[in-house]
Amino acid sequence: GAPVEVDISDLKPGEMKTVSWRGKPVWIINRTDEMLADVKKADPELADPQSKNPFSMPLPEYCNNEYRSRADHKNIFVAVAVCTHLGCTPTQRFTPGPQPNLPSDWPGGFLCPCHGSTYDLAGRVFKNKPAPQNLDVPPYQFTSATTLVVG
Ligand code: FES
Repeated sequence: GAPVEVDISDLKPGEMKTVSWRGKPVWIINRTDEMLADVKKADPELADPQSKNPFSMPLPEYCNNEYRSRADHKNIFVAVAVCTHLGCTPTQRFTPGPQPNLPSDWPGGFLCPCHGSTYDLAGRVFKNKPAPQNLDVPPYQFTSATTLVVG
């Protein structure tokens, strides 16, 4: 599929937008400082904190870091919104509400409505599963401060 150009000039901190790339939804999230702090805190509860076991595509080299994002735009998180269990689209749940069967210390992130897998704000799956792997991060680059190209 062709690369997809996305204007993120209107993407405020704490907001996300969804684009379509290769027929799949891709999220672009402008993480706040608090969200980035939550990513650090989540590590001990994750199945694969270092993303050593990619799902359907390798983690881009430049996203192989604690926030799984480009160092020059570390707040911007890009992920393929396909649950690694059976392919549902997780929903955003940036703040954890009272929910049965959620890890007690889940700081919020993404919840898959199909079988309850939870992901943190870097798309990494919690140990409670059933999703086996972290969400894919597609290749992407910035062609200007506010223009991102996925693919
Ligand atoms: Fe997401 Fe099963 S498809 S938890």
